[in-house]
Amino acid sequence: MLHPLILGGTTEATRLAHALAVAGVQAVFSYAGRTDAPVAQPLPTRIGGFGGAAGLAEYLRAERISHVIDATHPFAAGMSRNAAEACAATGIPLLALERKPWVAGDGDRWTGVPDLDAAVAALPEAPGRIFLAIGRQHLQAFAAKPQHHYLLRLVDPPPALPLPKAEAVIARGPFTLEGDLALLAAQDIGLIVAKNSGGEGARAKLEAARQRRIAVILIDRPALPERASVETVAEVLDWLHQARLGV
Ligand SMILES: NC(=O)c1ccc[n+]([C@@H]2O[C@H](COP(=O)([O-])OP(=O)(O)OC[C@H]3O[C@@H](n4cnc5c(N)ncnc54)[C@H](OP(=O)(O)O)[C@@H]3O)[C@@H](O)[C@H]2O)c1
Repeated sequence: MLHPLILGGTTEATRLAHALAVAGVQAVFSYAGRTDAPVAQPLPTRIGGFGGAAGLAEYLRAERISHVIDATHPFAAGMSRNAAEACAATGIPLLALERKPWVAGDGDRWTGVPDLDAAVAALPEAPGRIFLAIGRQHLQAFAAKPQHHYLLRLVDPPPALPLPKAEAVIARGPFTLEGDLALLAAQDIGLIVAKNSGGEGARAKLEAARQRRIAVILIDRPALPERASVETVAEVLDWLHQARLGV
């Protein structure tokens, strides 16, 4: 019997969950549990870590999971590594549902950096108003440049911010071009720091930056394990369909 596990936390994972529910596939959805009120899924849902690669392997065996679809965010490299290791250990097929990285076009003023520390180092010394569009993890690194005013956009209100001059707007994507143009103007943003997440839901800020001629420091993706991967929900359905047919 097909009994896939979706490792989620992205818009694409939610789309896949809806497609599998409509197709009547008995899948399970998994969240890390990072947000207070995760988007409800049309599938049985579990929340929380598995306990590393070994814990995941144990879960896969215990729940008789037939396939794993890693639809986590491209920066969730730890989960992706664990999924690759657990699937290799159990012999359960793994497919990644991966977005393409964003590529600069005419008018974009992007500086690519390899990681978070390089993004901090690339910030100017003169105080500015910076949209730190990187989520709530890893904000601490920016305390090394406390002269800036940082605008954060977070899903849940933060308990405390590790930055002296910071303000959080609470919002959940997907975001629109109109909304992001208005945000950049209202906050008088002079620079954006973002992850090269790819996909559509978080792209609006980059279009808005282009229109307002705002520079962007774009953090490259972390290295991910070698695995089979596709870019669309339809391709995941095909993969499962072929598995069902034993092709
Ligand atoms: N990183 C981002 O920028 C970002 C942006 C948007 C959404 N997300 C989503 O937020 C979640 C956490 O991201 P992260 O960067 O903190 O991940 P991470 O660093 O790769 O993962 C850290 C640990 O969190 C647990 N975990 C992560 N994703 C999980 C899932 N879908 N189901 C169950 N456990 C999971 C695992 O714990 P155990 O080792 O105990 O199994 C994993 O080892 C991911 O599901 C991701 O899709 C991340």
